[in-house]
Amino acid sequence: MMERKVKVGIIGCGGIANGKHMPSLSKLSDVELVAFCDLVEEKAIKAKEQYGTPDAKVYTDYKELLKDGEIEVVHVCTPNRSHAPISIDSLYAGKHVMCEKPMAKTAEDARKMVAAAKETGKKLTIGYQHRHKPEAIYLKSVIERGDLGEIYLAKAYAVRRRGTPNWGVFLNEYEQGGGPLIDIGTHSLDVTLYLMNNYEPRMVVGTKYKKVSNPECGNPWGGWKEGENTMEDSAFGFIVMKNGATIILESSWALNTIEPIQEGSTVLCGTDAGAQIKGGVTINKAEFNRLVEIKPDLSSGGVAFYEGISDNPAEVEARRWIDAVKNDTEVVVKPEQACVVSEILEAIYTSAKTGQPVYFE
Ligand SMILES: NC(=O)c1ccc[n+]([C@@H]2O[C@H](COP(=O)([O-])OP(=O)(O)OC[C@H]3O[C@@H](n4cnc5c(N)ncnc54)[C@H](O)[C@@H]3O)[C@@H](O)[C@H]2O)c1
Repeated sequence: MMERKVKVGIIGCGGIANGKHMPSLSKLSDVELVAFCDLVEEKAIKAKEQYGTPDAKVYTDYKELLKDGEIEVVHVCTPNRSHAPISIDSLYAGKHVMCEKPMAKTAEDARKMVAAAKETGKKLTIGYQHRHKPEAIYLKSVIERGDLGEIYLAKAYAVRRRGTPNWGVFLNEYEQGGGPLIDIGTHSLDVTLYLMNNYEPRMVVGTKYKKVSNPECGNPWGGWKEGENTMEDSAFGFIVMKNGATIILESSWALNTIEPIQEGSTVLCGTDAGAQIKGGVTINKAEFNRLVEIKPDLSSGGVAFYEGISDNPAEVEARRWIDAVKNDTEVVVKPEQACVVSEILEAIYTSAKTGQPVYFE
């Protein structure tokens, strides 16, 4: 029997489309990239030439792309502000939607996306690829088996000493909605909530800072024009969940600290054991009067030239997503979960602004 091909359109052919979505989708034999849209036509043309089928279409208006009834799936890879309108239009046009993180610029927009997915019955997922890392997949299984007991403290990290993205609209608050918190803190909070399987915040206190005197000094991508960067250098959240668990979230693009901790890092403390993803995954506990650390080997077991199923999180994300579409099964990153991430991030920004805690219903 001929393999069914899922026809995919890409909206926004910039950094993440080229760095993650298009290369990983193009490795799937049951996917065809048939349409590319970017406000800058040359970017869509280049993407088509590199990843598209020979008769793939190029657009500069996503609404035109959505009229193509052959397209089953769209990937929304535009800046944060347009995630909600484009995803919602795509869902109502009958497409399944993979939207980049963060889900939306505002919590209200994120809730509208959840509602649109429900109303249309189409699938919606968010590009939180840290959930698809081998470390997270392994740890999720360990936690589901109950090894950690009750997780009552977590620390989610996305800490850069210097790492302010200065291209595109990353420094444009209107387009992005914020700096490191919404950009990379979002990944760490997502993976933490996912591993805790806890989506019920009760209260949030947040602070944010724009204090570093020389954030461009040592920035890997160079500097920016005077006055162009209005974003916070760093933002921190103290989140209390309804079951009493605490999550401490640290995020920065620029911070004078010795130890940077990559986004997607998390430390989980449970009643029976602890675990962390910081580089690799480590589980810790106490037994037989000793403190013990377990570091699982997540390599391919010493097999050279391993060409089996890829462990690359971008490829696992694409595979799991297309499988969910083809088999009509649940997506890994559920829109309701990503929406809670957006609600907590917004509460941190609100608390940082007002100096008051934010309480959830
Ligand atoms: N998952 C990750 O780790 C990760 C990493 C980087 C970026 N991102 C996310 O991806 C999104 C895009 O970031 P990027 O780095 O690719 O930015 P980028 O500026 O490199 O690319 C965005 C592209 O979208 C195009 N665009 C803007 N509005 C459009 C519209 N209405 N219709 C069609 N095209 C439009 C722009 O012309 C640009 O080419 C952001 O939301 C960002 O947070 C996620």
